[in-house]
Amino acid sequence: MKNKVSIIGCGNVGTTTAGFIAQAGISDVVLFDILEGMPQGKALDLSEACPLWGSASSIKGTNNYQDTKDSDIVVITAGLARKPGMSRDDLLFANAKIIKEVAVRVSRLSPEAVIIAVTNPMDAMAYLAWKTSGFPHKRVIGMGGVLDSSRLRTFTAWNLGVSPSDIEAMVIGSHGDEMLPLMRFTTLKGVPVTELIKRSEIDAIKERTKKAGAEIVGLLKIGSAYYSPAQSAFEMIKAILLDEKRLLPCSCYLNGEYGVRGIYVGVPAIIGKEGVEKVIELKLDDPEIEEFKSSIASVRAMIEKLNI
Ligand code: APR
Repeated sequence: MKNKVSIIGCGNVGTTTAGFIAQAGISDVVLFDILEGMPQGKALDLSEACPLWGSASSIKGTNNYQDTKDSDIVVITAGLARKPGMSRDDLLFANAKIIKEVAVRVSRLSPEAVIIAVTNPMDAMAYLAWKTSGFPHKRVIGMGGVLDSSRLRTFTAWNLGVSPSDIEAMVIGSHGDEMLPLMRFTTLKGVPVTELIKRSEIDAIKERTKKAGAEIVGLLKIGSAYYSPAQSAFEMIKAILLDEKRLLPCSCYLNGEYGVRGIYVGVPAIIGKEGVEKVIELKLDDPEIEEFKSSIASVRAMIEKLNI
């Protein structure tokens, strides 16, 4: 097959993402992990499902970075996941060490790839992957906004008793407690939900969206969410491989857009084969601007802690 996606870290999110790619049959997949036998076993399991999916994807499990050579996309899900009571920020230093190593290795072997950073705290890890890889910023993107927006769509649809696929939603800012679920940009097929849902319920939907990851961590107790993160990563992978030019909220490097420079944070962007092809600037109102500033400050503080 022409396309090659390598997934670094084949735990829950990585392997589930591989499964979605294989099921769609849009690319070959390399699953890399430091644990011996584990990526090979998962690759074999997925390969044995391919006939049933009618998929011609080849899936290889490996502990050797060389197998990731010349990938079109490298997805980084390597690292530690949250445990109950941990914030995404608690993972900062442990995961930074892993991301640095991964970004150096994969960028040398796949110099033309687009890197998708999934590991948390994601905005800081996307920044670190960009810095360490030396790639142009349009070819390093963080996965967060697609997931947060899907969560907002879910809770909004449940409130209205409608199909989640008829809800459009937009979450920007950090992929953390200071994300901005933008209700003015959330609609039921174009009808602003602010006209359909009471203010107090809107506030509850926003709050549940911000805490959605922690809600799942609290229930699972031994790990964090993976079906929805994997499907979100898959949406981005598909947009890149098929050059779909989709508008997806992602963590992108801001180079003056929104009056911000030198940071990765969630904004709507056109995603195609080049990676981030354009950042879309929303017309935010004054309270939204204030919230966005505070969200940016939280990411900047984390990046400063990394002392890159
Ligand atoms: N290189 C490659 N893989 C690594 C490395 C490394 N240096 N260090 C750890 N890993 C692997 C682990 O062996 C494990 O298989 O990363 C995998 C992580 O998988 P899980 O623990 O199942 O975590 P997962 O739920 O997949 O989440 C991964 O995505 O959503 C975020 O917060 C989440 O940061 C976490 C990441």
